[in-house]
Amino acid sequence: MRRRALIVGNWKMNGLIETGRGLAREVLAGLTEREERKLLCEVVVCPPFTGLADLNQILGSSSLKLGGQDMSEYPSGAHTGEIAGIMLRNVGCWYVILGHSERRAERGEDDALIGRKTAAAFRDGLVPIVCLGETLSQREQSQTLEVIEAQLLAVLPHLPDSVSKIQQLVVAYEPVWAIGTGKNATPQQVQEVHAFIRKLLAEQLGEGSAAKIRILYGGSVKPDNAADLFGLDDVDGGLIGGASLNATDFLAIVDAYPNDF
Ligand code: 13P
Repeated sequence: MRRRALIVGNWKMNGLIETGRGLAREVLAGLTEREERKLLCEVVVCPPFTGLADLNQILGSSSLKLGGQDMSEYPSGAHTGEIAGIMLRNVGCWYVILGHSERRAERGEDDALIGRKTAAAFRDGLVPIVCLGETLSQREQSQTLEVIEAQLLAVLPHLPDSVSKIQQLVVAYEPVWAIGTGKNATPQQVQEVHAFIRKLLAEQLGEGSAAKIRILYGGSVKPDNAADLFGLDDVDGGLIGGASLNATDFLAIVDAYPNDF
């Protein structure tokens, strides 16, 4: 079953206001030329927090949507340096990336925190894109599926009661060793993990929800490997880092999603 694809550009900590503005305008212009693609694929960009309000003005209610790269688990209050989900909504965000491996590694975010942030995202009206992924040493020790299972099972108890909301959840598989390294996971490796995630979702949430939840792949997705990855049964789009900083490459990745929807 084909779900509507989701292609998300994670700009990470790159670009000042003007750069982001130029990039978003180019991507939007490209999407505007691609009427059919827009039906197949939902496209989102996640700029740094400082660019969100400006891009919200530019993108308005266009087909290019906005997402945050992280959020606080708290709704408001004395949490210096944090951004609440409602603040992201306020500047036009629909989505929020949670549990990115860079935050797990650099900021010590653990599975329990990511679970609480997932609940907070739903509470604040955002769709969470929850990132899972194993390190190279975990893969080499054949622990990949175990790690993915633990990361996913930590999040699922925090989902809301409403089935229609649960089905909005987005899961992103990003093997840490493939992020920003140019090292590709093979299509077989990707499909194995995505199918495993879908099976776990079915066991925990039921077949109906598992069939609707989108599972994205991230890690060195480029125009030349995107079609192979997006052709896999359980890959419903991508979470794109480096290649999302170039409008031509990002649009070529959007174009790589198959037409057999
Ligand atoms: P790269 O596409 O640069 O490997 O980054 C992937 C990623 O971390 C997206 O969140």
